[in-house]
Amino acid sequence: MRKKINLVLIAILYLAIQVSAQEWEVPADQKDIKNPLEYNLANVKKGKELFYQNCKSCHGDPGKNNVLPLVLPPVDIASEKM
Ligand code: HEC
Repeated sequence: MRKKINLVLIAILYLAIQVSAQEWEVPADQKDIKNPLEYNLANVKKGKELFYQNCKSCHGDPGKNNVLPLVLPPVDIASEKM
């Protein structure tokens, strides 16, 4: 029984490593798409509002690295990666 549990744990760990090792590439036909919204204060404010309504619960406060501890972890949107 214990051996079976260990094998399952190893399989889960292996899958988690495989998934987290993948880098997502922007598809070639999507690379040149531009943001259709103008960069202005009203749009930035609206974006912030939408982020706090829909994304903050997992991605945390920008720059505070207080993301929800999920597997895989959500990124802090103020991070260099983003
Ligand atoms: C229920 C939790 C949850 C919510 C709500 C959520 N996300 Fe995420 N997000 C995640 C997780 C977990 C990942 C990491 C998945 C991965 O690395 O494959 C992620 C990844 C991302 C990424 C990709 C980052 C990268 O590494 O390439 C972007 C962009 C993103 N989220 C944007 C948003 C936006 C914008 C919203 C709100 C509209 C949002 N997310 C709401 C959990 C969430």
